[in-house]
Amino acid sequence: MTRMMKVDAGFEPIASALAAQLDQVTVIFERQLASDMSAVNKLCMHVEQYRGKMLRPTLVLLSGFAAAPAPAQEVRSQRSEVSQASLSPHDLRPLTSDLLTEKHRIVAAVVEMIHMATLVHDDVLDEAAVRRRGRTVNDLWGNEMAVILGDYLISNAFHLCSTIGDPAINLTLGDVTNTLCEGELVQLHHRDDYSIDEALYLEIVRRKTASLIGECCRLGAMLSGAPERISKAMKNFGIALGIAFQIQDDLLDLIGDQGVVGKSLGKDLDKGKLTLPVIYQLADSEPADRGEALRLIMERDAASLRLLLIESGAVARTAATAKGFVSQAKSELAAAPAGPARDYLGVLAESVASRTW
Ligand code: FPP
Ligand code: MG
Repeated sequence: MTRMMKVDAGFEPIASALAAQLDQVTVIFERQLASDMSAVNKLCMHVEQYRGKMLRPTLVLLSGFAAAPAPAQEVRSQRSEVSQASLSPHDLRPLTSDLLTEKHRIVAAVVEMIHMATLVHDDVLDEAAVRRRGRTVNDLWGNEMAVILGDYLISNAFHLCSTIGDPAINLTLGDVTNTLCEGELVQLHHRDDYSIDEALYLEIVRRKTASLIGECCRLGAMLSGAPERISKAMKNFGIALGIAFQIQDDLLDLIGDQGVVGKSLGKDLDKGKLTLPVIYQLADSEPADRGEALRLIMERDAASLRLLLIESGAVARTAATAKGFVSQAKSELAAAPAGPARDYLGVLAESVASRTW
């Protein structure tokens, strides 16, 4: 199966620059999941259609390039500030040369498989019918099949990871999957809890989404032999980027267009998950207005709630918070050597908070 790559302005140059590397990651991914049972292959091929921009593998590879020793990166300038300019495929051509190791590509395939497992299980929890413009596993074949397929993916992810022969990577990624399950458990625990505040919301997001993205960046840098200081900065970059990513995801769930986003929306409200725009709305309203907002939440009145959140400024405040995390992420990049890969990580961070997909 070929790699599906729908690109937008922010991702386009990097998608073409990294195409050869990502194709190799896809080969590893597909080889790992190939089964002699056709029923299993059919399910895995369906899940491969969930693959979009391959954000997590891209972060492993780009962080690997960004942290590689300076001469290998064909440094264009010695500035410490991250470039704001959009990059052309020409700027990124050095990234096509094979500076990365097979370990980078295996880790990239592993993190994508972990991500796929969480999506398959998440769609069961959310009772979601649409993902990547197609039907979800649970919608097509039921929850039992989706639960076991998610288990199959997570089991294969750690099996593949073990082929690297570095127990520290298995331990780290095991820690991440523990953490993201904790995030989901805490989120479920606070279902329909109208007193949840920004700090708790951010802790859930940090665990369920940002922990994996942070580790993608750290592992990419670490496998390039980066010093601890740079690997740590890359992890912090990924965590801040991951938080911005999930805030935007939650915003799209409330105000996005399902045709553009390509997955079931409105699920957070349906499932009683209070996300940042709603938390801001409840925290900032006068008592009477708070009562009205609570009524809309309890009645699951998505259309009226959406209008209220836009008119009150809660949506704008949420978008500003996401942008704040993007700035925080970009500031971490100053620790990495100047070069096109570092610049592109900055461009990628910007595009995450303004995405409509
Ligand atoms: C996104 O939720 C959910 C996650 C990032 C984590 C999901 C994790 C689990 C379900 C635990 C399963 C864990 C393993 C190890 C298999 P969302 O509903 O906001 O995202 P969406 O909008 O893409 O549906
Ligand atoms: Mg979901």
